[in-house]
Amino acid sequence: MNLKEKDAKYIAGTYARFPLEIVKGEGSVAFDEDGKKYIDLSTGIAVNTFGFCDEVWQDAIKEQISAVQHTSNLFYTNPCTELAEMLCERTGMKKVFFSNSGAEANECAIKVARKYAFDKYGDYSHSTIITLKNSFHGRTITTLAATGQDVFHTTFAPFTEGFVYAEPNDIGSVEELASKDNCCAIMFELVQGEGGVCPLTQDFVNGLKEIAEKYGLLLICDEVQTGNGRTGELYAFMNYGFTPDIFSTAKGLAGGLPLGATLMGEKVQNTLTPSSNGSTFGGNPVCCAAAKSIISRIDDNLLNEVKEKSEYIIKTLSSADGVKGVTGMGFMLGIETEKDAKEVISACREKGVIVISAKTKVRLLPALNIPWDILKEAIEIIIDCCKGE
Ligand SMILES: Cc1ncc(COP(=O)(O)O)c(C=O)c1O
Repeated sequence: MNLKEKDAKYIAGTYARFPLEIVKGEGSVAFDEDGKKYIDLSTGIAVNTFGFCDEVWQDAIKEQISAVQHTSNLFYTNPCTELAEMLCERTGMKKVFFSNSGAEANECAIKVARKYAFDKYGDYSHSTIITLKNSFHGRTITTLAATGQDVFHTTFAPFTEGFVYAEPNDIGSVEELASKDNCCAIMFELVQGEGGVCPLTQDFVNGLKEIAEKYGLLLICDEVQTGNGRTGELYAFMNYGFTPDIFSTAKGLAGGLPLGATLMGEKVQNTLTPSSNGSTFGGNPVCCAAAKSIISRIDDNLLNEVKEKSEYIIKTLSSADGVKGVTGMGFMLGIETEKDAKEVISACREKGVIVISAKTKVRLLPALNIPWDILKEAIEIIIDCCKGE
């Protein structure tokens, strides 16, 4: 049996894989089993922050894995505490809960919001959370319920109750739900990633802030995909000039090792109490050492480079033949193509560039440190693949 056949035989059938086995990677370049080279603009869906097998990141992991690989949360470990300090200092948040994935980080955010409301009102009268249509918040039963897309609300019912869905960029639709006096929070991605790389407008976000104040609601940002430098700021809310009460992140946080984090601001910093949450692997020292190395390298210089390269991509692609438009921010971009996105993605792969889809768009999620020459080569190939016959 070859790998493809074995995979089909033994792996649960949840993923539609590309016909490609990646056997080795170096920075923004990957190689398949035949040694064919690819420029990777997908970073494992916004995970490999500094590309494949970055040496500084590897050294941080090697040092920690040869000291202590895991202890359980019954003990103190240095990387976990230091990472929490680093994240709080860089974001203005007060406390961190570590987990393993985006869905789990969102579950925690939801628990914090509901417990905050329970502690405040002494009952469950304000347990509802407003999320946005076209959002994506994860695959657990609760985060599927939080996801504002009907296609995710089938098959696995009953889902967790207490989510209502507003239209993105339509503040009236948020206020209509907020005014019902049964909500505790509004939860949203600032750039809807799986929904097609759709940023929220500044006006809408300003409106969310006003509504949150008016109705006493918490603001929760899902920064699972947008976080850790991806949008040209350390976290996407920094592009919009506000600080949420809670935000979740995962994906790029540890640069390719599993780590989720839920950050809590002043209002909710004491909401989680002993036994109100927990995670065996959450805050694992190796993952936290990796994340410390990643976060410490996302500085102003790097973020400015991301912005500059992003502008180049947007400008170059926007005027290209076969491109209808480019959406997104920083290194989280969606290309609206005249051809079917899947056709463009396959053509790019044939020509040695890995890109993925987001709804009907071609999605680009390059490594934050992708060199100019490699980026330019990839963009030329994308332009070529978008062209009409
Ligand atoms: C915005 C957002 N939230 C949550 C998730 C779920 O993250 P995970 O797959 O790590 O559970 C994703 C994954 O794509 C995401 O993009």
